[in-house]
Amino acid sequence: MDRNLALEFIRVTEAAAIASSQWIGRGDKHAADGAAVKQMRNRFNQIEFRGKIVIGEGKKDKAPELFNGEIVGKGSGPEMDIAVDPLECTDSVAHGRYNALAIVVAGAAGSLLRAPDTYVQKIVVGKAASGVIDLDAPVADNIKKTATAIGKDIREITVMVLDRERHEKLIEQIRSVGARVRLITDGDVAGAIATCFPESGIDMLIGTGGSTEGVLAAVPVKTLGGQIYSRFTPRNKEEEKEAFEMGIVDLHKIYSAEDLARGKDLTFTATGVIDGPLLPGIIVKNDYIISHSMVLRTKSGTIRYINTHHRHNKQELEAYLS
Ligand code: FBP
Repeated sequence: MDRNLALEFIRVTEAAAIASSQWIGRGDKHAADGAAVKQMRNRFNQIEFRGKIVIGEGKKDKAPELFNGEIVGKGSGPEMDIAVDPLECTDSVAHGRYNALAIVVAGAAGSLLRAPDTYVQKIVVGKAASGVIDLDAPVADNIKKTATAIGKDIREITVMVLDRERHEKLIEQIRSVGARVRLITDGDVAGAIATCFPESGIDMLIGTGGSTEGVLAAVPVKTLGGQIYSRFTPRNKEEEKEAFEMGIVDLHKIYSAEDLARGKDLTFTATGVIDGPLLPGIIVKNDYIISHSMVLRTKSGTIRYINTHHRHNKQELEAYLS
């Protein structure tokens, strides 16, 4: 993949993040998402490449923009698989909470798993514990092995979990082994990636979350030497059928980071919308707007943090709200 292209995608996530940030705290998650999608699409189409959205906003009939199968880019240049979450954590933006990102993942054509929009069970750890986790092992075993691999006391292990009723038993199990639970209302992509940064204080992410979020997280987790194991858990027959049609024929299969995003020709780009464990959010000043982004390239293993000062254009910001 063209190295510069990875940096071009920053403009895409920056634009999506700035537009959706205008909806923080206004109680309308669809409008926030819509603003991000619109900007993302618009910016993609200014870049010289041929991208195929393989993970987008769902089927064409459900979401008219950035639908799965849509071709983006100026139409010449390299062909690529693109997975996006124009706004990861729509609810957090609507309610002015925590941890929202605009995300683009790009890979060589055919490299990204075509994941249906359903749920997966997942367990994610950083590099030190990447060889010791097992999705089917008891939680206590995974925590004990992770603690040994990292060289921490179990009491100092922090496990991030989505705050959902379905996780009540899991949370009890984590606490009963002596580890800490850090609950998040949303945003397991950032949570998964945070396990790969020891300074985040998050050692493991576990639970059931979005399947497309699993593919998005796989690229940075793999690039940073961590591991993610996941298994599709469709909620009903319709989702099961959709999964089957997309090639997920064995619902017992465990997908590793490599299965979700193959090869090395991969990049991950994200811009913070609201502060989270990975990136600070958009800051609007009188004269300028600051965005915080990161770009990872699997081939080189580089992580770039890019803070951009954008000219504050009042009309443009107001237009995102219309
Ligand atoms: P959205 O971007 O669709 O708002 O997803 C946020 C999120 O919290 C993901 O990070 C997570 O994987 C998923 O939702 C969990 O789904 P649910 O909210 O249905 O439990």
